[in-house]
Amino acid sequence: MNHENSGRFNLPSLSLPVKTLFTGYLLVMGIGILMALAQILLTHGMADGKFGVSVDDVVYSYHGNKDSSKLESKLNGSMKDKAVVLDRATLIRWAREGATKEGWAEVEPIFQANCIACHSKEVMPSLAPLTSYEEAAKVAETDAGASVDSLTRVSHIHLFGIAFIFIFMGYIYSMSVNINEKFKSVIIMIPFLFILIDISSWWLTSMFAGFAWFTIIGGFGYMMAFAVMWFTSMYQMWIMPRSGKEYNSNEWIK
Ligand code: HEC
Repeated sequence: MNHENSGRFNLPSLSLPVKTLFTGYLLVMGIGILMALAQILLTHGMADGKFGVSVDDVVYSYHGNKDSSKLESKLNGSMKDKAVVLDRATLIRWAREGATKEGWAEVEPIFQANCIACHSKEVMPSLAPLTSYEEAAKVAETDAGASVDSLTRVSHIHLFGIAFIFIFMGYIYSMSVNINEKFKSVIIMIPFLFILIDISSWWLTSMFAGFAWFTIIGGFGYMMAFAVMWFTSMYQMWIMPRSGKEYNSNEWIK
């Protein structure tokens, strides 16, 4: 069989030590990406309280939930019967407007009259106390999503990490045979493009919830490229018949 890849090194003809080296790398990276998937499912996937990754998860993770606080959700939930509608509305408005110190004078009497019978350290130490401004502000905090601080940290780790993973994967895959060179080049480029889409979507989603879709598309893009490169490389090294001469790894140094 005469392979189209005219370069000296092609996957089916590599020597056993080189195949072993590449396979070891691919196996570890394969487990790595499964772990990454599991982690995404368990952390971001559960962000909206339901299993599986959805646009809502991405929104909660990066954009937060700026119009809901623990106070608001409890006042619409298990604490609904603890105050009259008007008072509940006042408390919720206070939380939504940032739970300010200036607003405390208006809401303090409501907490005093309706809540501290249970929510005070003396009565039920296990409950979040609502007797002072600081205590109440804590449960009135809204979820601001990912901070610039955490985004820069995760972004640079991802940029370096993903580029490192894919330079080796792409290099191995570039030695595959019988694949159109243009197609190969596109597959090799996809992860690098999609990591940029992915990372910029985190930043955009932290500001505008509508960009959450790009995070999912970005992630899907490099998972797909990863799968194509992984399976093609493994297949060509171990299952596809060799073509002609076996290249000895010593020839690499020449
Ligand atoms: C009769 C006692 C009682 C009163 C009165 C009461 N609560 Fe609660 N509250 C509880 C209990 C018990 C829990 C824990 C169970 C739950 O989360 O539903 C709780 C939980 C909460 C939580 C969640 C705290 C956390 O750390 O998860 C918030 C917020 C809250 N209450 C707000 C209020 C507000 C605001 C009022 C007044 C309008 C109020 N509660 C009145 C008994 C009370």
